[in-house]
Formats: sequence, structure tokens, C-alpha cells
Amino acid sequence: MAAKQLTAIRGTIVHCLRDPGESNDPDALQSFEDGLLLVEDGRVVEVGPTEELLRRLPSDLSVEDARGRLIIPGFIDVHMHYVQTDVIASYGEQLLSWLNRYTFPTEGRFGDAELAAGTADFFLEELLRNGTTSALVFGSVHPESADAFFAAAQRRRMRMIAGKVLMDRNAPDFLLDTPERGYQESRELIERWHGVDRLSYAITPRFAPTSTEAQLELSGKLAAEFPDVYIQTHVAENRDEVAWVAELFPWSRSYLDVYDRYGLLRERAVYAHCIYLDEQDRERMAESGAAAAFCPTSNTFLGSGLFDYRAARGVGMRVGLATDVGGGTSFSMLKTAAEAYKVAQLSGSTLSAERLLYLATLGSAEALYMEDRIGSFQPGREADFVVVNPGPTPLMERRHGVCDSLSERLFSLFILGDDRNIESTWIQGEKAYQALS
Ligand code: GUN
Ligand code: ZN
Repeated sequence: MAAKQLTAIRGTIVHCLRDPGESNDPDALQSFEDGLLLVEDGRVVEVGPTEELLRRLPSDLSVEDARGRLIIPGFIDVHMHYVQTDVIASYGEQLLSWLNRYTFPTEGRFGDAELAAGTADFFLEELLRNGTTSALVFGSVHPESADAFFAAAQRRRMRMIAGKVLMDRNAPDFLLDTPERGYQESRELIERWHGVDRLSYAITPRFAPTSTEAQLELSGKLAAEFPDVYIQTHVAENRDEVAWVAELFPWSRSYLDVYDRYGLLRERAVYAHCIYLDEQDRERMAESGAAAAFCPTSNTFLGSGLFDYRAARGVGMRVGLATDVGGGTSFSMLKTAAEAYKVAQLSGSTLSAERLLYLATLGSAEALYMEDRIGSFQPGREADFVVVNPGPTPLMERRHGVCDSLSERLFSLFILGDDRNIESTWIQGEKAYQALS
């Protein structure tokens, strides 16, 4: 149950009102050096300067004291695989051999409901430990994997989107469904979970190479039947993968065009990676309202390539930040933001501290069309937030001590930070994780 009573937390409050953009619009961020975040019934009532708010609030108001700490919206990770928790940090392969050698054998075990439930619990606890409060998540091909995940997220009252994978070719037999079975199982999962509490369903064709045209067609039919359901898949991640798609779908103009043909490009569709898109693809993404998941630790770890954030935003694509665990190497959105910065550097552009905060919170909420519920502290938003300790190690404490602006404090937090900075994580105004001090 969300806390009904009016409560408050006091600290340095920072959140984004919009994208700071390349020119780093100073009004895109709102901050209060000594601020108060007011919460009632699990939602944000107001944020503002402590002194001013306390003057007009009841004197017996319960205030959690987090002075010396940053209070920011919970991180939103727009692409992860909970069934790959045990695959993280597997040595030495690029995408296609990595899938065959590590990922498929591991995912094959997720028909076991007990293993799925245990892994979902671990995964969600790890998200909370890292300050992530919402995510868009792949299960395995087994419907049991989605059931286990939704049940575990529901118990924690977290806003989560997930789906069972659809795959009917080019993978081991034990991981294949059929177009009709995948359609039927997805339908049942939508009816069971979509819109229940804070949960949403995502139709989840793994990627074009592991679905027949019949399966992509039925995925599109399901999407048309449930227009407010999400869609998640992968596109244009790796050069060998792109070449394979051109062979499998010789009629297609591009990899993205395969999904477009089956009605899978639309609002609430999230495409992981989007590295090898051309200008026409980007324009089509923007026009359709589909979003890209920028997965920098995965893209460098698997040697996939560099996502062009500037080009994507330049044509108006929605872009969220994502860890892509287990292709990605960390659950931490702080570490992921640092990698995003480095990828931008290698691509001849840059990402300011303000934009990194935007990417990990409001930008990701916009990619999910959830900016009216999560990603900022605007009144009425769900009160999912993180209390960040800027100096949990001698180095971070020292570096923080010589910062002379909020921007510098945020930047060094994003570049040096990780799970050690996350002091507590709050879901709908209630503490869901507290670090040991
Ligand atoms: N493409 C198809 N499946 C996957 C996956 O599990 N991880 C990544 N990174 N790319 C994929
Ligand atoms: Zn992925």
C-alpha cells in the first residue's frame, strides 16, 4: 500500500522538466539546494525550497532528513533481460555467437517456474539496489517466465513492463514456440497482466532472425488488437546480424523496414540498439513514434558499435537509456550513463551532466510514453525516487568536495558513480531499499 498520509523528504532535489538539449537549456532542470519533496498517497504533491514549504505546512509533518544527499527521480531502464542475469560478463564473443554459446542455454531453463521466480526476485532487488524503479524487460520464450516476473514486480509495487519472447526459428528447439502458440500465450498474458496495478505488457518478438514471417505477421495482428500494449525487440545492433537479416528478408529496404512491414513501428514500441540505421530509418522511427533504447555498455562489451545519439535526437526520435543486462555489463544506470558519455565522445558529440540525468529519468519515461506518471517530480507523478550519497568512497568524497556547481557535482557522480552511491530507493513514497551504513 502506498503511504496515504502527507510526508516529506528533505535534501538537494534535482529533476528534469524537459530535455536540456545540445545547448544545455538551463531551465530544463529544476533544483533546490535545500529542498522538500512532498508526497501523499504515493504521489508527488509538490517540490520546493524547504524554508518556504515548512512555513505553510502542518508543524507535525513527518520529514525524512536527507540533507547532504541528492534526491532524484528513480532511474528508468528501457531495455533489459531478467532471464540473462546469470549471463552477465560472459567472455569474448560478438552478438550471434554470444547468443548461441551463453544466452540460449541459460534462457532454456526458464520453463521452471521456481527458477524464474527466484531470478525475478534477485533481479528486482538488484534494480532497487541500483536506484532503478522502472524497466522494460524481456522474459524467455516460456510464458511462466513472464508470470513469475509480473508477480514479483507486483509484490514490490514497481512500475514494470515485460513480455514473453516470441521466437520460432534459428534457435535451439527447446526455445522455439510457433506463431499460433506464441500469439495465444501472449494474448493470455496481456489479459492476465496488462494494466493490472503498475504493470504493462510488451509484445516481444526477439529479433527478426528468430521469427518467421508468419510469426511477425501475428505479432503485428496482436499489436493492432491491443493498441495500448507495448512492443519491444532488437534492431541493427551488429554488422553480421544486419547482413543476415538482408538474406532472410530479401525484399526489405532495411532491417527496420522488416518490422515496419508487419505494423510493429508505432508509439510504445521500443527498439534496442539502433546502431546501423540510415537517415530514412531514423526519420521513420521519429514519424512512427517508436523509441530507441541506447545500450552503451552492451554495445561496447559485445563490440557492436556506437549509437549516434545526436543523429537520433536530431530527427526527433525518442531515446531512452538502457543497461541491456546480460549483454550489458552493469545494473547501474550511473555506470551506464558514464558509458553513454564515452560513446558520445567517440562519436564526435557530447552529453552534458544535465542531459545524462534527463536520459536516465525523464527521457526514458518519454521513450515509454510514461512521462505523465514517472521520470520527474512534477505534481501528480508517482513518487518513485532515489536518495544519492555523492561521496561513498574516499575518491568520490574528495572529488565532490572540490565541485563548485550542481552541474559539476552531477557530472562527477555520473562518471564515477555506481551502486555504492544509492543510499535508499523509494517506491510510491515508501522506502523499498536502504543501503547498510
Ligand atoms: N538480439 C537478439 N537477442 C538479443 C539479446 O538477447 N541480447 C542482445 N544484446 N541482442 C539480441
Ligand atoms: Zn537486449
